[in-house]
Amino acid sequence: MPTILITGASRGIGLESARQYAADGWTVLACCRTPDTASELKAIGGVSVHALDVTDIAAVDGFARSVNQPIDVLMNNAGQNMRPPRGLGDMDYAAWSDLFAVNTLAPFKMIEAFQDHLRRSDRKIVLNVSSVMGSIADTSGGHVAYRSTKAALNMVTKVLAGDLAGDGIIVFSIHPGWVRTDMGGPSAAISPEQSAAGMKKVVESAGAGASGRFFDWDGHTIAW
Ligand SMILES: NC(=O)c1ccc[n+]([C@@H]2O[C@H](COP(=O)([O-])OP(=O)(O)OC[C@H]3O[C@@H](n4cnc5c(N)ncnc54)[C@H](OP(=O)(O)O)[C@@H]3O)[C@@H](O)[C@H]2O)c1
Repeated sequence: MPTILITGASRGIGLESARQYAADGWTVLACCRTPDTASELKAIGGVSVHALDVTDIAAVDGFARSVNQPIDVLMNNAGQNMRPPRGLGDMDYAAWSDLFAVNTLAPFKMIEAFQDHLRRSDRKIVLNVSSVMGSIADTSGGHVAYRSTKAALNMVTKVLAGDLAGDGIIVFSIHPGWVRTDMGGPSAAISPEQSAAGMKKVVESAGAGASGRFFDWDGHTIAW
C-alpha cells in the first residue's frame, strides 16, 4: 500500500486525514509536536506517530534521515493563524515572522528534506494545505499576516512544481474548505470528515496536470 506523511496530525484536518488514510490501509506517518498529548492520533490503529515541530529545520532533516521508505504523498498540513489578526497600527512583527516559519518556510523545508523519498515512490505527490485566504485574486483586505504566508506558500507550490517536474513530482496547493476545527471554529461550513475526504479524492485523481495548480477541497480550481 502507498505511504503518506502528514504534518500537524494531532488535531483538526491532519488528524482526520490520518484516520481516513489509515482506514483505507495506507501506511501513515503522522507527525505532531507533542505525541505525549496526541491521544486521539495514537488511538488510530496502524498509524506511526512521530514528534516533529516543522519549524525545527534540524529536526526535519533528522526525521527525513530516519525514514527509509518511499513517501507517495507528502501532506504539508501543519499551519497556524494569527490570533487576534493584526494590521496597520497594531502589527505584531515577531508573530508575523513566526507565522511565515510555520506556514511557508516549513512546507518548503519538508519538500526539500523528503524529495528523495518522493522520487522513489510510485505517486510522487505533495499537497500544500493552503487557504483561499492566500488567493491574491480573491482578496479585498484584512488578515494580512495569514493571507501573506499562504500566498507565499502558493508561490512555493508553483516554483517547486516547476523545479521538480523533471522528476515527475507533482506539487499543488489546496484549500481545505472552511472547516470546523480549532482554527476554523464551530460555525465553519464543513466537517473535518468532509474536508479530508474531499482532499483525498483530489489526491487520488491527481496526475501530472495537477502540478502547479490551486484546488478547492472539492477539486475545483481556485484563482491564484
Ligand atoms: N480550518 C479551516 O477552516 C482552514 C481553512 C483554510 C486553511 N486551513 C489550513 O488547514 C491546515 C490545518 O488546519 P486545521 O483547521 O486543522 O487547524 P488546527 O485545528 O488549528 O490544527 C493545526 C495543526 O497544525 C499543527 N501545528 C501548528 N504549528 C505546528 C508546528 N510548528 N509544527 C508542527 N505542527 C504544528 C498543530 O499542532 P499542535 O496540536 O501541536 O498545536 C495542529 O495539529 C492549516 O494549514 C490551516 O492553515 C484551515
